[in-house]
Amino acid sequence: MRKKLIAGNWKMNKTINEALLFVNQLIPLVKDTDAEVVICPTSLCLSDVARAVTNTNIKIGAQNMYYKESGAFTGEISPRSLTEIGIEYVILGHSERRQYFKESNDDVNKKVISALNIGLMPILCVGETLEERASGKAFDIINKQMSECLQGIESLRLDGLVIAYEPIWAIGTGKTATKEDANEIIAYIRKLISEKLGGSIAENIRILYGGSVKSSNIKELMEMSDIDGALVGGASLDSVEFSEIVKY
Ligand code: 13P
Repeated sequence: MRKKLIAGNWKMNKTINEALLFVNQLIPLVKDTDAEVVICPTSLCLSDVARAVTNTNIKIGAQNMYYKESGAFTGEISPRSLTEIGIEYVILGHSERRQYFKESNDDVNKKVISALNIGLMPILCVGETLEERASGKAFDIINKQMSECLQGIESLRLDGLVIAYEPIWAIGTGKTATKEDANEIIAYIRKLISEKLGGSIAENIRILYGGSVKSSNIKELMEMSDIDGALVGGASLDSVEFSEIVKY
């Protein structure tokens, strides 16, 4: 049985004080949930938020990292500095990083390998644009992203690897993929994992849906056979709304 995972991606929102206020509200609201709860604040908030959730059931993820451990890479985030402060997850290849910061599948692949090597659990994001979907290319795009981003990982420890299917047209638009469409692509991702990494990893890996998830649509998404959780953007910024998603 795959444990459901609900992760909040705050993107570039909340100052340190706002983040601390949020977690102190969230802790009692989700303390009895069966799902795994992860929040991904901005990099500047990580340390304080990680400290604030010590001894709770909330885990912390970063939204990005560089693939080198250290060195002359001005402005980048070192994976080693993340593990040192107790960060467990890292979102990699989010469509906003691909779109605004020109991250390629090759860049994402290096980061996935680096994260797995250092013991961070990647939440690898894949997803198609509206034009790609309209022209019937969604499956091809997902296939390409999966194979290029996961190249050369076969020999690594993969227990923590998480995939998030986030159709770009559903992010921040209020348009959610239908539960059937989301499940179809997620089942396809699981089939790709099975072909590449074997049936047992495919059976155990968690694949999330992301894109306009809210407390009003989470339940129907979670009823689908292959959807193991959600990567939530806007609706993760409000502690009560996010707790309702967690406790769907
Ligand atoms: P929204 O939930 O705001 O659509 O964002 C989804 C997302 O990009 C999560 O990573």
